[in-house]
Amino acid sequence: MELNSILYSKENGIAWAQFNRPDKLNALNSDVFADIGRVVDDVALDDAVRVLVITGGDKVFAAGADIQEMSRGDIAGTYKFTDAGIQITERLADLGKPTIAAISGYALGGGLELALCCDFRIAADTAVVGLPEITLGIIPGGGGTQRLPRLINYSIAAEMVMLGGMMKAERAHQLGILNRVVAQEALKEEVVKFAGQLMARAPIALRAAKTALRKGLNVSLKDGLCIEQDLFAMLFGTADQKEGMAAFLEKRKAKFTGK
Ligand code: COA
Repeated sequence: MELNSILYSKENGIAWAQFNRPDKLNALNSDVFADIGRVVDDVALDDAVRVLVITGGDKVFAAGADIQEMSRGDIAGTYKFTDAGIQITERLADLGKPTIAAISGYALGGGLELALCCDFRIAADTAVVGLPEITLGIIPGGGGTQRLPRLINYSIAAEMVMLGGMMKAERAHQLGILNRVVAQEALKEEVVKFAGQLMARAPIALRAAKTALRKGLNVSLKDGLCIEQDLFAMLFGTADQKEGMAAFLEKRKAKFTGK
């Protein structure tokens, strides 16, 4: 697979996608977005990959969409750019496997918006998050105004979107934007440990859990309970449900096969 702006590797069930524009603080241009689409497709089809980690490396996650590229935008071009962006970020958010954003340094604008498409955000204490688009005379265009208030309190989200300030890791952790915050040196180990815990779970059940959580957020409780019920019943057709319950009854550790 040919990628222009992302370093991509796979190790022990984890696919690592690392933005690779360090001199531009990993600003996300169309090349990066196209690469993310390719990575998501690859992860979806590769049974050996159980968890996708998106990262920017040790210094910076991503300082937003590429302002240089955007500065030349007009209305028609911006619709085209955001159409592509929405398709790719939705594919990432809908991926049937768990996703983790591993964040060091700035995760701003489009960087934070991409991280919000992941199921989990694990950060170093160097992380700084924010949606500064308003300071450029625009608003977030990668899902920030929609995903953030679905994740945290509305008025905090409104403050982030309408004032455009930046927030340090500890506060973002308190607010629930970040799942874990650790020292920079411990970030990779923490991400691998978290991914390992996910990989010990049954893959089809994980997929069902993600679908129930995500789809349920946008429907009434009654409809959400229906979604959950169908997925719950479906899992009783899997070998992993038989194995998980047999293992419990036989007082041993379950060996899930993803079937
Ligand atoms: N788009 C394009 N280029 C960017 C960028 C972005 N979002 N963020 C940083 N860069 C570039 C800078 O232009 C600079 O390039 P240069 O060396 O060719 O001039 C390089 O990355 C380093 O950035 P710099 O601003 O010098 O680093 P800093 O440590 O002083 O400041 C930030 C870091 C993150 C505070 C600052 O870069 C910033 O505010 N970036 C924009 C954040 C933003 O508004 N994001 C939302 C975009 S919609």
